[in-house]
Amino acid sequence: MPQALYTETESFDFDMAAIYGQSWLMAGMECELPKAGSYISMMVGKWPVVITRDKEGTIRAFHNSCRHRGSMVCQPGHGTAPKLVCPYHRWTYDLDGSLFAAGRMEDDFDKSAHGLKPIAIACFGGAIFICLADNPPPIDDFREKFSAYAAPANFENLKLAHVDKLVEHANWKLVMENARECYHCATGHPELAKTFPVGMSKHFDAHEDARAEAFCAAMDANGFPHEPVEGHWWQVARFALNEGCTSMSEDGKPLIKKPLITANGGDIGSLRWAIDPHLFAHATSDYVFMFSCMPVSATETHVFSKWYVHKDAVEGVDYDIDALISLWAVTNSQDKELAENNHKGVNSPGYTPGPYSADAEMLARRFTDWYCDVSRVYIDTHGK
Ligand code: FES
Ligand code: FE
Repeated sequence: MPQALYTETESFDFDMAAIYGQSWLMAGMECELPKAGSYISMMVGKWPVVITRDKEGTIRAFHNSCRHRGSMVCQPGHGTAPKLVCPYHRWTYDLDGSLFAAGRMEDDFDKSAHGLKPIAIACFGGAIFICLADNPPPIDDFREKFSAYAAPANFENLKLAHVDKLVEHANWKLVMENARECYHCATGHPELAKTFPVGMSKHFDAHEDARAEAFCAAMDANGFPHEPVEGHWWQVARFALNEGCTSMSEDGKPLIKKPLITANGGDIGSLRWAIDPHLFAHATSDYVFMFSCMPVSATETHVFSKWYVHKDAVEGVDYDIDALISLWAVTNSQDKELAENNHKGVNSPGYTPGPYSADAEMLARRFTDWYCDVSRVYIDTHGK
């Protein structure tokens, strides 16, 4: 895409309003809110958001901005609290967002008009999706497909094992274009390439074709949906890992003794789902990995990674945390270097966008096409 779309503050401001402010985003898994009072406080770009589980068990999302003078009510991270108390003047909110107490306010102060502002939320397949738009895009197709594809893994049975934040000095669209193609993987990710089919494309040979066919037959026999399906802003598919590999790990062997799925000896490939603008995730038979890209400025992006395992798996007994995170930590740091290097080169007065490979960068192309579509619609409806 043109240089200014990667480098200009004006473009970043547009992206926040037109893209991150209008799209469904995956916030995490329901297991991250195990009981009433659990909350997740997170940033969507520069915007603070809090997600709570209320006393009835309902998961809700709010702008994390106090209705008094706007302080962030909860600091980023996970927590549990019977009520949400703003650290500034102690206005206190119930878990359903309503204002419970505001000391020293006048008698005629209307508490009912000062609850936290809600954000659209949808929970299905064990996952949590939020959208900051007043009129979120349709989600029913994705809800149906994701729920069906995720069902065998029973994501309700997960627990969050680890979270990581990586600061990348690159525009978020470069981070995402990189995350959407594996043209760079064979050389850029030698560790990932051991288990992930980095050459997955129309250039499969006969042996690989036969293996893919056998994988599809095994998934059909187990009742696991696997055909690639997609909508305007999402994709879901289950695909075979490299021969002999049952997990995305450094040697292809499972990382967790207590698996999520035992069908087909754990040889169930990876369930991959991707959401534009910010996410890809992989679920193998033993763990789930989620990658979420959040822009901070035109030149800085935060990548949040989460690893989930079976809720009964015990750290130090059933898995080792360093071994669990190793492959994606290495892969993410390689991608950080690639994206930062890409950004430096895009800054050059000699930068002119070149063509994508139709075979190897199909999904990067799909991402930029989606970005242009959504931008056009926003400009048409908002006149800017
Ligand atoms: Fe929250 Fe004053 S800003 S109580
Ligand atoms: Fe990569």
